[in-house]
Amino acid sequence: MKKEKKISRRNFLKIVSYSAALPSLFLWMKSAQGKIAAAGKREIVLPLAGIADGITFRDSVIFNKEDEKLKIFSSSCTHLGCKISSFKNGELICPCHGSRFDGNGNVVNGPALNPLKEIRYSIDRKKETVRFYV
Ligand code: FES
Repeated sequence: MKKEKKISRRNFLKIVSYSAALPSLFLWMKSAQGKIAAAGKREIVLPLAGIADGITFRDSVIFNKEDEKLKIFSSSCTHLGCKISSFKNGELICPCHGSRFDGNGNVVNGPALNPLKEIRYSIDRKKETVRFYV
């Protein structure tokens, strides 16, 4: 004869509340993805080991990696949008009008007035990847 397994009232309520929350969580995640897609951004996922120490350039971003610290900036100059692709004497240099930025994206010399746009990212420690949107 098969024994019936009883679920406590508390566990039953937990299951019901988690089940009710899942659709909301799914919709929230879809909404967040939709906002990113609507903003015309694309997702970039890179292996952390593929980002060299120091300043490196890749597509439309600049990486500044020192030890375990990572900063990612848009390579678009805040003056008129030229692509920054050189780093000399500790400074990122815009080829168009000569604005210079330090490794943290701060303006060292104009005509640019604003720092480089820092890009937020997340790290997946299990997969050893970095994810961001550009
Ligand atoms: S666009 Fe970079 S300095 Fe003008």
